[in-house]
Amino acid sequence: MPAFASMTVESSEFEMSSARPQPHPGVLAIEAYVPGKSTAPGAARVFKLSSNETPLGPSPKAIAAYKAVADRLHDYPDGAASALREAIGKTFGLDPVRIICGTGSDDLLHLLARAYVTPGDEAIYTTHGFLEYPIVTLASDGKPVVAPEKHYTADVDAILAAVTPRTKLVFLANPNNPTGTYLPFDEVRRLRAGLPPHVLLCIDAAYAEYVRRNDYEAGIELVATTDNTVMCRTFSKIHGLAALRLGWLYGPPEVLDALNRIRAPFNVSTPAIVAGIASLADTEHQELSREHNDRWLPWLTEEIGKLGLEVTPSVANFVLIHFPDTKGKTAADADALLTSRGLILRRVTPYRLPNALRMTVGTEEANRLVVETLAEFMGRGT
Ligand SMILES: Cc1ncc(COP(=O)(O)O)c(C=O)c1O
Repeated sequence: MPAFASMTVESSEFEMSSARPQPHPGVLAIEAYVPGKSTAPGAARVFKLSSNETPLGPSPKAIAAYKAVADRLHDYPDGAASALREAIGKTFGLDPVRIICGTGSDDLLHLLARAYVTPGDEAIYTTHGFLEYPIVTLASDGKPVVAPEKHYTADVDAILAAVTPRTKLVFLANPNNPTGTYLPFDEVRRLRAGLPPHVLLCIDAAYAEYVRRNDYEAGIELVATTDNTVMCRTFSKIHGLAALRLGWLYGPPEVLDALNRIRAPFNVSTPAIVAGIASLADTEHQELSREHNDRWLPWLTEEIGKLGLEVTPSVANFVLIHFPDTKGKTAADADALLTSRGLILRRVTPYRLPNALRMTVGTEEANRLVVETLAEFMGRGT
């Protein structure tokens, strides 16, 4: 009997095990994250205002540091990203031992869920919270639990009311994407105080650098004074290094120990490490980005508001614009017109905001073009 014939007979005995490989159930429940569009077919020029990147780009010093390692691409990076953690520690006055870096803060959110959520456990996030939270929770076969917001803002009492014995994690984006709203530090402290000690609070402060409010704190103090709070940060926003995928997390030693056990051993690349260090040192460039935002965030809010469109007050580098339900005037209609002019904003339907668009604060030219186009859209030609 030929060899393949005997194999066929044997394999029938393993009919069950030879069925198609099945991912675990949570994975199939995930609605994959859809990134913002980056093309506008037919438009002569394209302004990408859909992913909250900085219009000023990265620090020239970060670009130079990135280029300087081009001839070392054959070497593995330092798996511990020690120099970068030292630089972050120095910048923020933190112990580098309590810092872990990741392939974007997305990586760190995944690690948190993987380390702390077991099947059937719950992770709370808010109605319009960042979409990665349910994704990382489901990936661990956990149950994402939605706590209602008030005025597009996280509501501490609603989050506390959603806690059950199965709650393992609470994700709070502060400020939140895509709403741009924030919780004052007293409220975050109240949230921590009201959560059971076994619940890990993740404060995701991706946009912290943009916030100009005296009652705001990114979360450092709470992490330093509790053993059940972590704070995530990113180099994708004010540092303009989104393409390099770099984020970091500050947390208690026990959490760091857990995350370090499961992270990929070389999860941060050498180009990301050196560019991150150079970017942190270039405080002047960060200040330029902040000043640009300080000028254009209120301008956009006011000018778009004057057109009769509601804009949720934002403390980040983007605005959430609400559209009427009227046929011809919806967010989808506005998006179609803006895209035809090369102005790419973000549809936020998956965030339970089917009739809104999120716009990243862009260059002066892009900001003015959006306002002009929206004025035309609303029949208020300028
Ligand atoms: C609230 C929030 N957290 C995390 C991230 C992910 O950032 P990163 O590019 O570091 O993965 C984003 C990106 O849009 C965000 O808006």
